[in-house]
Amino acid sequence: MKKTTLIKNIKSLHGIIDDSTTPLKAGAAMNELGTINDAFVWIEDGRITQYGPIAEAPTTQENTLVVDAQGGLVLPAFVDSHTHIVFAKSREEEFEMRIKGKSYEEIAAAGGGILNSANKLQAMSEDELFEAAKTRLFEVIGYGTGAIEIKSGYGLTVEDELKMLRVVKRLKAISPITIKATFLGAHAIPAQYKQNRNEYIDLVINEMLPKVAAENLADYCDVFCDQGFFTVEETERILIAAKQYGLKAKIHGNELGYTGGVQVAVKQQALSVDHLEYTGDEEIMCLKNSGTMPVGLPNCSFFLGIPYAPGRKMIDADLPFCLASDYNPGSSPNGRMSFVVALACIQMKLTPAEAINATTINGAYALELSQTHGSISKGKVGNVIITKPIPSLAYIPYSFGVDLVYKVVIKGEIWNR
Ligand code: NIG
Ligand code: FE
Repeated sequence: MKKTTLIKNIKSLHGIIDDSTTPLKAGAAMNELGTINDAFVWIEDGRITQYGPIAEAPTTQENTLVVDAQGGLVLPAFVDSHTHIVFAKSREEEFEMRIKGKSYEEIAAAGGGILNSANKLQAMSEDELFEAAKTRLFEVIGYGTGAIEIKSGYGLTVEDELKMLRVVKRLKAISPITIKATFLGAHAIPAQYKQNRNEYIDLVINEMLPKVAAENLADYCDVFCDQGFFTVEETERILIAAKQYGLKAKIHGNELGYTGGVQVAVKQQALSVDHLEYTGDEEIMCLKNSGTMPVGLPNCSFFLGIPYAPGRKMIDADLPFCLASDYNPGSSPNGRMSFVVALACIQMKLTPAEAINATTINGAYALELSQTHGSISKGKVGNVIITKPIPSLAYIPYSFGVDLVYKVVIKGEIWNR
């Protein structure tokens, strides 16, 4: 017998896309958020099969799980397309240094930042890392994340990069939500290679990539293409090598300056280019008619006190725009996607509807999950958020930081928060 779930008493159902093959939303379409008032959702064997006005709800069977939304709103679960949740320790000491005036780049140049996280991760066992990351994964599912990407990049040695990606592989095996793994060996140049950076890049290309591919540990390859990290030429070398192993690119770019990260991402047909705090007309022109999704990470701007990616400008230029948490110990120690939505509205001037599309269907595009995630559509995975009874959709970003989740449903089952 089929397992069925009825979600009833939904004040308003948002994020409906009737055509489940829609890959993403761009420009003016981002402000459209398919909505039905007084609605139901019906899930069969973990997939959404029906939705509509409550009067049209199917008759429940003996074994139907009936979830009473109690007048809450229902949205598709978030798709968080950019995180670093496998890490060893938090970094409050750097937070205090920044309060006293040091910049993120100064701390990184002095051996802190990513290198600090790498030292801590190298000293931690795979099992310990797995447990810590699992706790974070389960925490963000409770906040409403229904699919997630996780990067390596705090290993920075062959063994430790593999260790991180093996942790992600183990998470994939136990996770109730879909996980995509990204190899980010080129996250920073380790101290011992400072005088000979090419040697480290050779290590990434000739040692790490083949092993990552042989163990099938990654879906994508990332490079931190920015000032003080990897140049455009170095980035391109690594991406071309990754392509030979079937790994598409997802790039960290233009966080610290107009560094050509967007251009190299588009040239190498990256799936996404993320950060974009420094994005001007040239970068916007370059993104036009590309398949590369621009991804803003407003938590990072908020936390580091750097500019916000010009999300409003990109949408007005008819581009798609995506938002992710960047959950990591250095620039975004918070994986709550509803806060990302709030920052996008408050600081980037996105409308609530745009911010929801940016964190759902466009996040799904950035992880090649548009056919299964990111909207309320027939056939998609039954991952939804039920809010507490709130007056409207806009109330979510309006009440920034407040936990408005009543229940999270994953594959038709209530997730135990
Ligand atoms: O996306 N900018 C590069 N990487 C991460 C931060 C890494 C860290 O500081 O630990 C980011 O912000
Ligand atoms: Fe990041």
